[in-house]
Amino acid sequence: MMPAFKHRINTALSQREKAGLTRNLKTLDGGNRVQLSCGEQSFINFSNNDYLGLACDKALTDAWQQGLKRYGAGSGASPLVTGFSPAHAGLQSALCEWLGYERAVLFGSGFSANQALLFTLLSKEDVLLQDKLNHASLIEAGRLSDARMKRFKHNDLSHLSRLISTDHNTLVVTEGVFSMDGDKAPLKQIEQEIDQRAWLMVDDAHGIGVLGAYGSGSCHLAGVKPDLLVVTFGKAFGLSGAAVMCSEATGNYLTQFARHYVYSTAIPPSQAYAITCAIDIIQRQQWRRDKLDELAQVYDELFCTLDGYVATSTPIRPFIIGCSERAVRVAAELNKQGFWVTAIRPPTVPEGSSRLRITLTAAHSSEHIVQLAQALKRSLELSQ
Ligand SMILES: Cc1ncc(COP(=O)(O)O)c(C=O)c1O
Repeated sequence: MMPAFKHRINTALSQREKAGLTRNLKTLDGGNRVQLSCGEQSFINFSNNDYLGLACDKALTDAWQQGLKRYGAGSGASPLVTGFSPAHAGLQSALCEWLGYERAVLFGSGFSANQALLFTLLSKEDVLLQDKLNHASLIEAGRLSDARMKRFKHNDLSHLSRLISTDHNTLVVTEGVFSMDGDKAPLKQIEQEIDQRAWLMVDDAHGIGVLGAYGSGSCHLAGVKPDLLVVTFGKAFGLSGAAVMCSEATGNYLTQFARHYVYSTAIPPSQAYAITCAIDIIQRQQWRRDKLDELAQVYDELFCTLDGYVATSTPIRPFIIGCSERAVRVAAELNKQGFWVTAIRPPTVPEGSSRLRITLTAAHSSEHIVQLAQALKRSLELSQ
């Protein structure tokens, strides 16, 4: 029998095309800056997650270069072989001191940290409870894990409480800030609702660096210390990679058994060195968070009367369009007017809630937001 892969691939691609949901990879120069260019054209970028404007910060690029001079390019091996350097050890200590955990276990990405954690921790008799809007990396890891996964309605405490099983080991997983909606989880209430009946894991990819005193994230802001905290370095840190913050015993357990840790090359030491420098900048440069607050005020004043506006207290500003074709048309119209704003469609968000995912960064100016508001009004009219 001929393998069916070719047919499967072509069918999936044409179905996605017919549904108007094809995603296109674009080569962008400056996707990590406010001003980006695509071919000959340039745009104001409202799409990246570099919330504090660190991705191109000179102190950070200098730190990475110093790290390269000091440690060379790659790490050479997985952490338990020879890939764990003083730069990795320094990063772990800085994270533990900052966030108040005994251990930090480093991963190449948030996606792999989430998978590693759920795969390693959960077994067959366990119950995994996830917020319905958790990131794809968490939902997919939960589906593939050995546990029985149930999803509770978004931020719905009573639904969560009903699902907590007293007969089974239970892990509750939520995000600090939801990536596509920009709202926060009610962490304090979730902790109270759980009331020692389960472990709590928080993925704070979008809250760390941005919220809380010294940028210490959603959990510190809420006065909660989850059993497991995942922080990622690809957003406010302006870099990439992730860490699982946990107890000494859990750290030892992950180091022994997490396959994504044991069987994967450690991040380059120069990168660990740069991430440590980013922690220092995040803690010391409060002005970046203050700037985000100022920009948020400007945004709220200008956008709050528009149909589709959603109030959030984070730099993630979803603007709901509803129909996915129209979301794409509005984004294309904005594009024509010199703005780079991404249309987010199913399956990333639920059917009928396609949106523009507008992100503010400390590198924007108020004027950029004024210009975006004018262009959005025009684009909404033109794409009726
Ligand atoms: C909530 C959340 N968790 C995890 C990830 C994955 O992190 P990374 O990009 O480091 O793989 C993302 C990325 O978008 C995210 O939004």
